[in-house]
Amino acid sequence: MKILYATSEAHPLIKTGGLADVSGSLPNALKLLKNHVRLVLPAYHDVMIKLPKKSFRKVADLQVSGCGQVYEVRILQLKAGAFEGLDVPVWLVDIPALFGRSGNPYLAEDGTDWWDNGERFGVFSKVITELAMDRAGLNWQPDVVHLNDWQTGLATALISLEAPRPKTVFTIHNMAYPGNFPQQLFDGLGLPHYLWSMQGVEFWGHFSMLKAGVAFADWVTTVSPTYAKQICTYEFAYGFEGVLQERAAEERLVGILNGIDHNTWNPESDKLIPHNYSADKGRVSAKRKNKIALLKAFCRMHTEKSLPKEDCFDQWLEKPLIGFVGRLVPQKGVDLVMEVLPDILENSEANIAFVGSGDRNIEEAICELARIYPQRVWCHIGYSEELAHLVEAGSDMFLMPSRFEPCGLNQMYSLAYGTPPIVNNTGGLADTVVNATEENLKAGTATGFVFYDMSKHALLSTIMHALFLFSKKRQWQKLQKNGMQQVFDWKNSAKAYQSLYKES
Ligand code: ADP
Ligand code: GLC
Repeated sequence: MKILYATSEAHPLIKTGGLADVSGSLPNALKLLKNHVRLVLPAYHDVMIKLPKKSFRKVADLQVSGCGQVYEVRILQLKAGAFEGLDVPVWLVDIPALFGRSGNPYLAEDGTDWWDNGERFGVFSKVITELAMDRAGLNWQPDVVHLNDWQTGLATALISLEAPRPKTVFTIHNMAYPGNFPQQLFDGLGLPHYLWSMQGVEFWGHFSMLKAGVAFADWVTTVSPTYAKQICTYEFAYGFEGVLQERAAEERLVGILNGIDHNTWNPESDKLIPHNYSADKGRVSAKRKNKIALLKAFCRMHTEKSLPKEDCFDQWLEKPLIGFVGRLVPQKGVDLVMEVLPDILENSEANIAFVGSGDRNIEEAICELARIYPQRVWCHIGYSEELAHLVEAGSDMFLMPSRFEPCGLNQMYSLAYGTPPIVNNTGGLADTVVNATEENLKAGTATGFVFYDMSKHALLSTIMHALFLFSKKRQWQKLQKNGMQQVFDWKNSAKAYQSLYKES
């Protein structure tokens, strides 16, 4: 089967979050199932500077209209395997005026959305449509076009207007980003007026690219079974519950859990951690050594000058270290973490390490806490793949108290790294973590800690429970092992997508 996989980010080319991990893994897994896959994404400046000159070539030219102007578009092809980790050919949509700026793919330097995001991804969606209909001269007609999040949503609507046409699958990775724009953008892009209706792309007088994807796709998927149910309710749908309920009633809305990429996130072979280990081999001692490496990395950043003496690290070694990696936004519940941390620090010996970036006030609050508790709270504000891997490997437990979580990859990584996660019972967190109740511990099924009410009290008592269990070494090791033995394989998810692609 020929599959065109369209996304706005893909690891290792460009990444802001889990969408990149998925887009860097699922196409490879689909290829292993003998499908022919092409990955298409914008040729951002930050992608192009990573690519050796000879690794790509221009394969097509086309023209696509934006708001008040026509863009010359080049399609650049990166051969399968030309970039480590990407096993399928990649088509990069090169439009320098829209994607040739450095930095975050969606945000300007001041942290606000690029002023022309609507036009950027509207035009990207038009290009995807041309590729989907094999009108760019590439002589490759996909059977299925798999689209992801609002940045590609408009393509779903545009492809639905063609006949004959490939099937479309639209995956929602996060309902919190609806891609809503003023009606002027719809007019400016010169879109067919009959798309503008309550059944179409119109959303309370605005143009919603997420709604375009939901309303027009042959199949709508999201990234966990629990989130698929949640987004049909008022609390999680941000006003889109009506259209989602309709798609669910037609049995066109499906939750497929993400997998994890064992080439990148595997403690046995991870190149970004100094000491490799598995559930059965070297886990205890390697995790201790990784913990020291992690603390040294943070101390180096915090003290700038010389490192504390070696024996200083030994005293930290015995104390529980809680890790956090993620976008510092309300979704991740990090504001609630900030509320409970003073209590945790006062009433336990636990230390905490943060890696993340996002809302400026949350960033500042974390830095402030690190200043108040210099040898107990560490943080790296920014993006660091190395530290993200080291936190998973070197922490004792992983904190992910998200308010909502479509799937969540970090809790699966932490399970794989023997770092039991502490999570809220929502979305993919509910589908992947088994609470360490007495019963589950006895049955040998427990993998982490789950709380059921997004309150300060619930989070605090769950962290305290985790810290208590940490002191029971045998039980703790069993918990770690259980987590490491969980299978979150992309092969299973790829098979589930493949059966959808085959259904009419
Ligand atoms: P989301 O996609 O909502 O951000 P996920 O848990 O699905 O959450 O995926 C987040 C991904 O981004 C993980 O691979 C995580 O390690 C990575 N990540 C998030 N923030 C950072 C950071 N500051 N530095 C390095 N990696 C990060
Ligand atoms: C989104 C979600 C996250 C999910 C990721 C990949 O960013 O917030 O829960 O794991 O997409 O699907």
